Amino acid sequence: MEKLGIMKELRDFYAGKRVFLTGHTGFKGSWLLLLLRELGAEISGFSLAPLHKNDLYLLAGGDALCDSRIADIRDREAVETAIAAARPDLIFHLAAQPLVRESYRCPLETFDTNVIGSVHVLDAMRQLPGACTALMITTDKVYENREWGFPYKENDRLGGFDPYSSSKAAAEICIASYQKAFFAPEKFKEHRKSLAVARGGNVIGGGDRAEDRIIPDLIRSIEANRELRIRNPRAIRPWQHVLELLYGYCLLGMRLNKDPLLQGAYNFGPRDGDEMTVEELVMTAIRIYGKGHYAHRPDTEELHETGILRLNIEKAQNTLNWYPRWSSTEAVEKTISWYRDIAGGADPRAYCQRQIREYFEEEGS
Ligand SMILES: NC(=O)c1ccc[n+]([C@@H]2O[C@H](COP(=O)([O-])OP(=O)(O)OC[C@H]3O[C@@H](n4cnc5c(N)ncnc54)[C@H](O)[C@@H]3O)[C@@H](O)[C@H]2O)c1
Repeated sequence: MEKLGIMKELRDFYAGKRVFLTGHTGFKGSWLLLLLRELGAEISGFSLAPLHKNDLYLLAGGDALCDSRIADIRDREAVETAIAAARPDLIFHLAAQPLVRESYRCPLETFDTNVIGSVHVLDAMRQLPGACTALMITTDKVYENREWGFPYKENDRLGGFDPYSSSKAAAEICIASYQKAFFAPEKFKEHRKSLAVARGGNVIGGGDRAEDRIIPDLIRSIEANRELRIRNPRAIRPWQHVLELLYGYCLLGMRLNKDPLLQGAYNFGPRDGDEMTVEELVMTAIRIYGKGHYAHRPDTEELHETGILRLNIEKAQNTLNWYPRWSSTEAVEKTISWYRDIAGGADPRAYCQRQIREYFEEEGS
């Protein structure tokens, strides 16, 4: 029962810790809020308001779970004031413009939010008098994509074709600068700050309502009783349940807090070979939901999209003892049953809490 042991270790660490969570109203942020509450943390949230009336944050009653501040990460003063007031033990920085297609429509806003917004968080952290550990959430898309089949390692070159990917890579350059210039581990006793980066991608889970993502698009098509259009049915993606990544974030936050030498970047992704095509994902999802239909319609916009991208996860495995628990098929099952059962009247907060407990209670493989 290795997982029960780690849940206890996480609870022992996070209980009563002050956590500053940016992006708490978003898909991953809402799940992280629920998980951190489950672990006993006290959370201050900083984000824009939820975008849709059926966003997970609203469905799960997020305002009751944290001290929520609705503000813009591009507003330096607002970030500084909020972080100074929260006096966080840990920061999880998730707030971002996270969509590739939106980044083509609004490149300037994307760079502003993802690069300058991240620097605002780093600089507010620098000014904290007390100790603080921060985890900056980027993406698997930060790597310069050579369109090769090998999994990317943490020290591979950063790049990014579209503005989203390149803004996250640029944010990483800034993070690395703060690591070296202000938060060097050898001077930890002076500044008491530690900083790491978590890279992952193709996350699925209940409650995502973003545009241009396959699961939310499918759910919208089912709800509206119309056909789902899929652009690249044969594209292979390493799908992963959101809890896998969030478990990795919590583990990294805890370990880094205890050992500043763990600073650096970490990949989080599925096991090698656990992949599905878009079409397999959609077919599995439709089978589980019990309705829905799709057709292949090539894209007319033809925006460049990253091809296959695999992550090497040995560093997270060896350093943090983090392993993915759910296969991509299980991840799809947990995700689609969430949407189906919530539509059938299940309570969203209780449902997420149950999935969190299932995730931690299932025996390690
Ligand atoms: N979902 C994925 O598949 C995926 C994959 C890789 C990386 N990520 C990263 O994870 C993080 C969370 O992504 P998500 O899927 O939950 O996205 P999301 O769109 O659901 O949530 C984004 C959050 O950021 C906040 N935000 C956006 N612009 C802001 C601004 N100017 N000021 C303050 N807050 C702002 C939003 O209010 C929201 O809370 C992002 O950093 C994203 O790049 C997500």
